[in-house]
Amino acid sequence: MNTKPAVKRAVAQTSEGSRPADLEFARALLIGLRAPEKSIPCRFLYDARGSELFEDITQLPEYYPTRTETAILEACASEIRDATPAGSLLVEFGSGSSTKTEILLSALDRLSGYVAIDISPSALDEAAKRLSTRFPDLRIFPVVGDFSRPLDFPAQFDAVPRIGFFPGSTIGNLVPEAAVDLLANMGRILGPGSRLIVGADLRKDRDVLLAAYNDAQGVTAAFNLNILARANRDLRAKFDLDQFEHLATYDDDNGRIDMHLVSRADQVATVLGHDIAFEKGERIHTEHSHKYDIAGFQNLAIRAGWTPQRVWSDNAKLFSIHELHRPLAVDRAA
Ligand code: AVJ
Repeated sequence: MNTKPAVKRAVAQTSEGSRPADLEFARALLIGLRAPEKSIPCRFLYDARGSELFEDITQLPEYYPTRTETAILEACASEIRDATPAGSLLVEFGSGSSTKTEILLSALDRLSGYVAIDISPSALDEAAKRLSTRFPDLRIFPVVGDFSRPLDFPAQFDAVPRIGFFPGSTIGNLVPEAAVDLLANMGRILGPGSRLIVGADLRKDRDVLLAAYNDAQGVTAAFNLNILARANRDLRAKFDLDQFEHLATYDDDNGRIDMHLVSRADQVATVLGHDIAFEKGERIHTEHSHKYDIAGFQNLAIRAGWTPQRVWSDNAKLFSIHELHRPLAVDRAA
């Protein structure tokens, strides 16, 4: 006998279910799938494969948000620069949005630095590498952290004006109350007197919205199903991927797209030794994607202690980019 099988097994054990990310995913699955209304938090859609599939989504003809936001940003970047004092610090929340960051970085010359905050060290690493080639003079400060919690910057930036950047309509993944909390936390991180540039998808014709989340090539379906594939890969869960299908619906009252995985049959899946029973037609909720009108988004910002300033949009009013200002007094009052 050679030692190959034993080595293989040891490797399999360390990569399976034992990384912190796996443990968190396992816990979330067991909680979410044993609740009366099944759900999985959408952040688990974005493992390496999911992030790749999301990149593919951004290229789809039906998926207007990425290309629209990029075009708006290209058009408004010089106006953003005009209100940005020399020596400002650019702070990006999440660093997946490479091309958009580059647009802002090339418009905002004379920055004292760029802080990228992300929970993924590998995403930060990649972003820092790419940006340092294109902007060799830029001081880049990767911060591994969760921006929904308190967070401190390098002390040398204490007195420097800050401009935050949160593109991609990621804010739309949160229900409004949670979005207010997140915007408020960004305000605390950035501090009094700062500004925040945030992208928000707009309400529009429901057929346009539904097409963006039900693309003809099935990339969004693959992205959604990947959350179960990930459970099979990383946790040795047993989901029969052929027995679930992608469904995206539009909820007019709440102004949001909801993504679900629908069971095609009565069936039982297993997660870490626990049986999870599904009835035919039963749904797992996997993502909210809220759409706002401009006043509605500004209202969220106000509830979070921000003062809305300029708003930029495309001619078809598909997407919006908001400039928010943090008054000097708000953090003392809070
Ligand atoms: C990255 C969260 C903004 O809601 O449009 C795309 C994710 N989900 N297609 C969005 C997504 C399905 C996307 N966000």
